[in-house]
Amino acid sequence: MAYSMAIRVCKTAYLNGTIEVQGSKNTVLPIIASTILTDGISVIHNCPDITDVHVMCELLKILNIKIFYDNHVLVINTSNIAYAPLPYELTCRLRSSVLLLGAMLGRWGRAEVGRPGGCTIGTRPIDIHLEGFCRMNADINLNDSLLCCQSFQLKGCDYKLRYPSVGATENLLLAACGAKGTTTLRGVAKEPEIIELCNYLSAIGVVIEGIGTDVLNINSPNYLKNADYINVYDRIVAGTYMLIASAIPSDIILTGIDDVHYIKNIIKVCARLGLNVAGANNTLRIRSFGDVIPGDFSTGTYPEFPTDLMPVLIAILLNAGGNSSVTETVFENRFSVVDELKKMNGRLCVKDDTVHIKRTERLSGNVVLATDLRQGAAMVAAGLMATGCTTVMDVSYIERGYENIVRDLSNVGAKISYI
Ligand code: UD1
Repeated sequence: MAYSMAIRVCKTAYLNGTIEVQGSKNTVLPIIASTILTDGISVIHNCPDITDVHVMCELLKILNIKIFYDNHVLVINTSNIAYAPLPYELTCRLRSSVLLLGAMLGRWGRAEVGRPGGCTIGTRPIDIHLEGFCRMNADINLNDSLLCCQSFQLKGCDYKLRYPSVGATENLLLAACGAKGTTTLRGVAKEPEIIELCNYLSAIGVVIEGIGTDVLNINSPNYLKNADYINVYDRIVAGTYMLIASAIPSDIILTGIDDVHYIKNIIKVCARLGLNVAGANNTLRIRSFGDVIPGDFSTGTYPEFPTDLMPVLIAILLNAGGNSSVTETVFENRFSVVDELKKMNGRLCVKDDTVHIKRTERLSGNVVLATDLRQGAAMVAAGLMATGCTTVMDVSYIERGYENIVRDLSNVGAKISYI
């Protein structure tokens, strides 16, 4: 991690070289949380060096868990784990802190956890998480800053989620590990992050049927063993670089793509945009002439196009040879990218849940703000396409999820630096 205030990024004519894609943020955070269910030492490989991981580790330390992190290897020792409430001052720094509710409920039948934070991309309620806990026989108490859940005995239940929420599916999976009897979760999320969490929970001894489908049956023994875990690549980071490569003449190799299946939906959209993608031996070669093909796009739950890449898609469509649109279906307030792109003369506007984008020949560098993680990456993408140089302020948002976007893009010849 770089700990800088701003990134300076200038128009770049050609990208060429190799990017080693970092480990996945949204996969590793639930797996770190689930080590609370175990006793002993777990080793997580390919763990990204990002703020969200470090804050999650700080939270685990409050539970008397020993943490050692070096060179993308995270060692978690839960031998002397002890219950403690988790303060809002730390939980408000990341969204995934909410998963500690499910993990602590699963382990101790109680949890006092400060409300989660994360990117301001909508109201982000947690009603589905809490309704599921109630159905497992937990009592819930909430105030402005604290979430308290308690159960004399968590019980398996049959619960249908009203929306396939990623976070709620993860939280209920974790709580189900402490429930007596079978828990059936219907209408669950099917994102790769859920499959990876299920695989990890299976490795520590939880019996899960239906992995990858929208119904999960969970049965957990009283004792869960430790397991090591090799984290998968970050499909959103890989997708960010694929989108950028669609808009700038490129010949780039992405390495570390150990399961190409997880990124097929993103490859499909990039191919529509004109990117040539060829995969072999855990790598993707991505090539383009930088002529983005315009079109109408929509985000959705997996395997639809991920909402996390929507801001970057909007930015690169400014370079397309005609009019485009992007409709957001997952979050209700995720268009902060639009105002910042307008500061660079971007020709785009929001109508209801859709952004309409016109080809912008005079996109020009300016001082812009990163207001959330993926919007920040979109501003970097725009800076590579715009004439002159762009300063992206508030890099801390980007560092929550991108280990070192400056290093990665410099490696392929982008004119980019921390300032
Ligand atoms: C996770 C990801 C985020 C990604 C999102 C959708 C992490 C840390 N974050 O966020 O990067 O954009 O999945 O793929 O993994 N909802 C409710 N009630 C609930 C829960 C969710 O109404 O109890 C709604 C949300 O407001 C939102 C939609 O469901 O409109 C999707 O949210 P969800 O899938 O829960 O996203 P997160 O888990 O927060």
